Amino acid sequence: MSEHVVVQQRGPVKVVRMNRPDKKNAITRAMYAAMAGALVSADADPSVRVKVILGVPGAFTAGNDLADFLAVAQGGEGGTEVFDFLMALATGGKPLVSGVDGVAVGIGTTINLHCDLTFATPRTAFHTPFVDLGLVPEAGSSLLVPAVAGRQQAFALLGLGEPFTAERAQAAGLIYKVVPEDRLETEVFAAADAIAAKPPEALRIARDLMLGGRDALVARIRDESAHFRARLKSAEARDAFMAFMARKK
Ligand code: COA
Repeated sequence: MSEHVVVQQRGPVKVVRMNRPDKKNAITRAMYAAMAGALVSADADPSVRVKVILGVPGAFTAGNDLADFLAVAQGGEGGTEVFDFLMALATGGKPLVSGVDGVAVGIGTTINLHCDLTFATPRTAFHTPFVDLGLVPEAGSSLLVPAVAGRQQAFALLGLGEPFTAERAQAAGLIYKVVPEDRLETEVFAAADAIAAKPPEALRIARDLMLGGRDALVARIRDESAHFRARLKSAEARDAFMAFMARKK
């Protein structure tokens, strides 16, 4: 478990909240493990009908903890926590709703590609600077973003690393709705309650039909992960992580 992930059950709704505000919710290995465990156990628990993922005000998440990335770049061992989390996202059997406010970097953007509904506030910036960090897209984003938003918006987001406002993300089909900050969690929970009130078996089949087979997605995540792990050890990536750490001082 991780002190920085709060898991609660609210009736039939399982709520997973990233809670590391002093680091803009940068996700550590322990946080990935805690979130993967919470999602998998929610899928297996008959009392849960829908899962919700949230951050804190102003920070959904600043993405992977760059100190963890730097440790791998400098020769440390990576674990399976990120991959386990991605698999829990990509193969989850129950609807997932996210509420995003503020910073949504890297996986903070790509988590939402696995959500059935994402609500985001006007001050949200979706940003995937993978290439600028010497890395490659992850979480199946290289497959999902072109499919949803088209090749050129995908290149802008994942290749150029252009930040997308919530409004632009909605126009590109990447999120469901833009809502004011003070309405975010109300709207998220109203949607979760509406989902939970549907006949679960019919909803499960409908969702499975909409998602189609996940084999291609899982294969892409594996492919991306292999490239990503190799890139973590590259000079381009190491220099980028060190530049971020130096900026802190
Ligand atoms: N990993 C580790 N620490 C991070 C982090 C990350 N991904 N993102 C933010 N933090 C830390 C900062 O180092 C800082 O810690 P400190 O107070 O101990 O110095 C704290 O969180 C607050 O961040 P700060 O940069 O001061 O906030 P900001 O509002 O000026 O900027 C961001 C917010 C998200 C734009 C900026 O922190 C950033 O670019 N982070 C890196 C994002 C990234 O590249 N993620 C990886 C994607 S694959």
